[in-house]
Amino acid sequence: MAQPENDTAARFLPLHTTWPALRRAAAGCTACDLYRNATRAVFGEGSRQARLMLIGEQPGDAEDRVGHPFVGASGMLLDKALREAGIRREEAYVTNVVKHFKWTPRGKRRIHSKPNAREIRACRPWLDAELALVKPEVLVCLGATAAQALLGSAFRVSRERGRFVASPLAPHVLATMHPSSVLRSPDEAARHAAYAQLVADLVPVARVLAPG
Ligand code: URA
Repeated sequence: MAQPENDTAARFLPLHTTWPALRRAAAGCTACDLYRNATRAVFGEGSRQARLMLIGEQPGDAEDRVGHPFVGASGMLLDKALREAGIRREEAYVTNVVKHFKWTPRGKRRIHSKPNAREIRACRPWLDAELALVKPEVLVCLGATAAQALLGSAFRVSRERGRFVASPLAPHVLATMHPSSVLRSPDEAARHAAYAQLVADLVPVARVLAPG
């Protein structure tokens, strides 16, 4: 049966928002159709005390298989970029705006497919619960899907990346490109340039997090 158009994860939220209860509830979420073809919901991970929250789009093929966010190729690139900017991934809580992998088949491969507005809206209560629990001081949107979900559909990562923007979500909010778009660069030179830009965008974040 198709999902009701206006269904959201709100009806799955536990009465008492503890981490184990949230994760358990998210695992059973059927607020949009994406659960049907995904292996599992991939919830955010990291310290509840994290000062930094990183938000991507949705789990990819690797994340769907193992159940952790940003562990595939784009996760490895993200870890490297964070390190180079002076940020340890362990300092961050890492999550996605959509918790189920959306894909289309191509031969034996599962090809990432962008979540639509309805799926992003349906999933939002999970992200809001994570934001309410972690209360990050710095929030980084990785890519247009996260940036537009959190900062408005008019937000353009290409124009506004790498600088802090005013938002009620956290004291410091910034968007940068998604690491997977670095990986999709057309050639080696473009990949180098895109990666360097990603690191440069993360440097102001490292400065905010730096002690003293
Ligand atoms: N891309 C994302 O946006 N999130 C992940 O967890 C993995 C890849």
